[in-house]
Amino acid sequence: MRLRNVKGAREILEQSNFFVSNPEEVKGTWNRLFDNDKPIMLEIGMGKGDFILGMAKSHPEFNYVGIEKYESVLVRAIEKLDESNLENVKVINIDAIDVEKIFDREITCIYLNFSDPWPKKKHHKRRLTYKKFLEAYDKVFKDYANIELKTDNDSLFEGSLISLCEYGYIFDDIKLDLWNSGKENVRTEYENKFASLGFKIKYLKAHKKIEERNEI
Ligand SMILES: C[S@@+](CC[C@H](N)C(=O)[O-])C[C@H]1O[C@@H](n2cnc3c(N)ncnc32)[C@H](O)[C@@H]1O
Repeated sequence: MRLRNVKGAREILEQSNFFVSNPEEVKGTWNRLFDNDKPIMLEIGMGKGDFILGMAKSHPEFNYVGIEKYESVLVRAIEKLDESNLENVKVINIDAIDVEKIFDREITCIYLNFSDPWPKKKHHKRRLTYKKFLEAYDKVFKDYANIELKTDNDSLFEGSLISLCEYGYIFDDIKLDLWNSGKENVRTEYENKFASLGFKIKYLKAHKKIEERNEI
């Protein structure tokens, strides 16, 4: 998702209590920032924020951090968050590949909602479920890696199933038509858009034990 450049986007972000401008400095101490020891859930590619806002409202028992690589998109999310008085959400402006610079074994679950599908084979390495991203995610999870993914895109869904399986993830749940499955679901902007065009929403939940990490 690319929006036209929002003038002064950085300044707008920095004025919000929801925006963490120095996330590298918070590495290893995110629970201290939230001032509690509740599990931390991470949404990567949060877009305009409907999902993280809905989840944070429904689940005060968790903390949420949203990642978005474009400032102009994040501004739209911040506008919505600023109207709430939620204390369990923070957002940051980074690229997903840099997660390991920001978190250290602090994350319980990663949500990947309607990630860019990168349909051409030569671009599959850019998918957020490609091996190099899964390796980076390993560094941020606590003892177990948990990933939940939603998409309208068959190729991304199939590619993600294969990539996660080859990387050692075990599937807890798979839905090929989430909206008609009866499963509780907080919808995203893209989800509403694609469902209204007649696409079925695909969903998966997978986990993996994190192997012993070598201490330096
Ligand atoms: C197709 S949009 C989906 C937005 C939202 N999750 C939804 O479902 O409505 C994908 C979002 O992921 C962001 N994104 C893509 N690649 C990213 C990356 N490597 N790191 C962080 N954000 C990324 C894009 O800027 C865009 O906002």
